[in-house]
Amino acid sequence: MKMQKIGVLGAGIMGSGISQVFALSGFNVSLIDISATALDRAMENMGKSLSRLLDKEKITSQQKVDAISRIRTGGNLTDLAGCDVVIEAATENLELKLQLMTQLDAIMRPEAVLASNTSSISITRLAAATTRPERVVGLHFFNPVPVMALVEVIRGLQTSETVFSSMEALAKAVGKTPIKVKNSAGFVVNRVLCPMINEAVFSLSENLASASEIDEAMKLGANHPIGPLALCDMIGLDVQLAVMQVLFESFKDPKYRPAPLLVEMVEAGHLGRKTGRGFYEY
Ligand code: CAA
Repeated sequence: MKMQKIGVLGAGIMGSGISQVFALSGFNVSLIDISATALDRAMENMGKSLSRLLDKEKITSQQKVDAISRIRTGGNLTDLAGCDVVIEAATENLELKLQLMTQLDAIMRPEAVLASNTSSISITRLAAATTRPERVVGLHFFNPVPVMALVEVIRGLQTSETVFSSMEALAKAVGKTPIKVKNSAGFVVNRVLCPMINEAVFSLSENLASASEIDEAMKLGANHPIGPLALCDMIGLDVQLAVMQVLFESFKDPKYRPAPLLVEMVEAGHLGRKTGRGFYEY
């Protein structure tokens, strides 16, 4: 299967990280977003992240220049028409993702693969919105994408074996370790991680300890590299809430009830690092 031209839809934290790792591994990338500001910010963030890798002597200055030169940005979905694989990394919203899948399906070549970086939405459901359900798959990267080694490769009910195994190969081609996951809300990592973060928010709202003490407790007591509340700020409180809502709706199990404080902070627009305020100020 030809997999040289990669399209990334959505220039947020995930879309920019995904574009960077593909470009650094020699792929040509088209990064698309309706917001020119988001595209500018994504290019700026990729520049900073590549500089960090350069400072650590993990890449050369030539690799940095080459990576940047392989990324094209644009505002139209039709710019993705010639891609072999498109990775959708738009906002975590079911209606939006269904609409984008249908639109991408209409413009992409029949043999192209439509992948979604959704954190929790059913791949089977996204696939059903297209005329090529066997060529729809989940490719779930982790934040920060340049650093995190894992990609969950998610098989929808309709995903073909060929597409599934070529996506595992694609993840390896960008230096990541793929794990195969059956389609189910939250897949594996978010099924385990997000309820833990949710519980940290409950602990904060019940005044068990301060935010920094809760984080320190999990760093020192469970050897986590970062505390759950700081991690939530990094992921985005809106994304964390969206995952909990999908888990709650999908399994109808009260153990996934989003913490009311999380809901209220999202209502206030305190979404974490990206808005300068979450459980901490930035
Ligand atoms: N680009 C390039 N390099 C980066 C980077 C970036 N954006 N961010 C961090 N790094 C590098 C640093 O340069 C540093 O490199 P060295 O080891 O060579 O020194 C290394 O990563 C560690 O960074 P820092 O020293 O700045 O900070 P840290 O030790 O606190 O590590 C972290 C930062 C890697 C983010 C670490 O805190 C961590 O692993 N946190 C957990 C992250 C996690 O759980 N992510 C999953 C979130 S869930 C998700 O993404 C899925 C979803 O759908 C919601």
